Amino acid sequence: MNLEKVIIIDFGGQYSQLIARRVREANIYSEILPYTLPIEEIITKNPSAIIFSGGPSSVYEEDAPKIDTKIFQLNIPILGICYGAQLIAKLLGGNVKKSDIREYGKVRINIKNSSIFENLPDRFNVWMSHTDFVNILPPDFINTSFTDACPNSSFENIEKKIYAVQFHPEVYHTEYGFEIIKNFLYKIAKLSGNWSIDSYLQQQIKSIKEEVKDEKVICALSGGVDSTVAANLVAKAIGKNLICLFVDHGLLRKGEKEEVEKNFSNREDLNFFVVDAKNEFLKKLKGVSDPEKKRKIIGKIFIETFTKEAKKYKGINYLVQGTIYPDIVESGTNTSASIKSHHNVGGLPKKLNFKLIEPLKYLFKDEVRILGKKLGLSDESVNRQPFPGPGLAIRVIGEITETRLNILKETDFILRDEIKKANLEGKIWQYFTVLTGIKTVGVMGDNRTYNELLAIRAVESVDGMTADWYKIPYEVLEKISNRIVNEVSGINRVVYDITSKPPSTIEWE
Ligand code: XMP
Repeated sequence: MNLEKVIIIDFGGQYSQLIARRVREANIYSEILPYTLPIEEIITKNPSAIIFSGGPSSVYEEDAPKIDTKIFQLNIPILGICYGAQLIAKLLGGNVKKSDIREYGKVRINIKNSSIFENLPDRFNVWMSHTDFVNILPPDFINTSFTDACPNSSFENIEKKIYAVQFHPEVYHTEYGFEIIKNFLYKIAKLSGNWSIDSYLQQQIKSIKEEVKDEKVICALSGGVDSTVAANLVAKAIGKNLICLFVDHGLLRKGEKEEVEKNFSNREDLNFFVVDAKNEFLKKLKGVSDPEKKRKIIGKIFIETFTKEAKKYKGINYLVQGTIYPDIVESGTNTSASIKSHHNVGGLPKKLNFKLIEPLKYLFKDEVRILGKKLGLSDESVNRQPFPGPGLAIRVIGEITETRLNILKETDFILRDEIKKANLEGKIWQYFTVLTGIKTVGVMGDNRTYNELLAIRAVESVDGMTADWYKIPYEVLEKISNRIVNEVSGINRVVYDITSKPPSTIEWE
C-alpha cells in the first residue's frame, strides 16, 4: 500500500507545524516544505494532497511568497489557508483587497453547502487573522461562506479540487476546525488514513535493520526524551550492536547521572557507558562569565570528548541522533536572528565522519513521547522536562565554580521536590532555579548575612518558542522559598521570575 502523504507548503505562517500535526492526527503522514522549493521537487514527493499555509505577507507586496501556477494543473487536491487562500485567488485570476477592518480572533461564519463543511451547523465560530480579503473570486470558483467583514471567507472549484478558507481550521479556537481538515482529507482528497505511529515505528525498524545490517552503531545518550527514544528504537532494530555513551559534563542536576545510569546500565542491548569529563569541562569554563562563550566552550568540548571516546570503538560507521521534526523544519526555514547558540547534546556536527541515523526526524515531540511509550519506556522518562545541552552552566550567572554549582544543584533539587509534592510535575512545562550572581543583605538568627539571590523560573509552553510564566500557588512558592533559605547555605533571598517569552527567554543565559 502506498503511503498517503500531505505536503504543507509553508508561506511563513506561525501555524504551519500545527497544520502538519492536525493532518497526522487524522492518520495521514504530512511534511512541511518551504514555498521556495521548485515545483519539480514537490512532485517527486508524490503528494496525495497539498495544503498552502498562512503567512504574514500581503499577496501584493513585491517580495510576497509565490508558487508556480503549474501546481494547479497537477490534479492534486489543494486547500489554501489564509494567505494560502488569497494566493490561490490572486494566481487564478481573482482579486485581493486590503480591508478597513482587521478581522482578528473569533469570528462568526455562515456556511453554504460544500463538502468541506459536510455535517457542520450553518453557523459557528472560526479563528481569523487577516487584513486582506478576497473581494473577487477567480473564474469558475464559487463562494461557500461569509462573515460580517469578509464576503468570501471560503471558496472552491470542485472540478479542479481546489479549496480555500480565509480562517484557520488548524487552530483549536476554530469550532469544527478538525472536522473541516478531515473533510478535506477524506471527503475531497479521498484519502484512507493509512499512517500511524505504529506503522512509522515498524517502518523505521525495518529500514535501520536493512541499512546497518551487522555493523556497530554509536549513540550520544543524554537521558533526555529524544535521545532516549532514539536509542531504544535503534536497539530494537539492531540488538546488541548499539553502543550508548553518556557524557557527564558535571553540569547535570543533582541525581541526574545516577538516574540515567539506573535506567540504562542494566540494559544489555544498550551497551551503556558513562564518560566522566567533569574536570575537563570545569577547567575550560574557569573564569568564563560571558553566556555565549560558555555555550561555545561547552559545545566544543562535548564534541571533542565524544569524538575521542568514539575513536576507541573501531570500525563504527553509524551515529544515532535524536533529531526531531521541528529541529529540521526550523533549521530549514528559519531566517530569524540568532538569539543564543543552542547546543543540543543530541546535535553533533556531521563532520564527525559517521553516517547519521535519525529515526525521529519526521516526528513531533508529542509523537516522540507516544513512540517512547510504545517502546516500553516509563512515563517518567518520556515526560521529562526539557533540559538544555549546556546544563546548569547557563543557570549559574557569571563564573562557574564548583561551590556555586553545588548551591544551584541543591536549590534545583528542592524546587523539583516541592513541585512533585504539590502534584504540579506534569502541569509545568519547565521549572528550574537560577543563581543570579547578585548579593543581597539578609538577617539570619541575630546575624547579618550577605549572600546570593536565587531566582525561580517556571513556564508553560508548547514548544519552547514562546512561553508564559507559570502561576505556582503562593503556598507552594512559600514552601520552596523557606526550604531553600533554610537548607542551602549561601542563599538568603529568593525571587520569582514573572516574565514571558518574548520579551525574555526561558533560560537566563
Ligand atoms: P530559551 O532560553 O532560548 O530556551 O528560551 C528555549 C528552550 O530551549 C532550551 N535550551 C536549550 N536546549 N541546547 C538545548 O538542547 C541548548 O543550548 C539550549 N538552550 C536553551 C531551554 O531549556 C528551553 O527549553
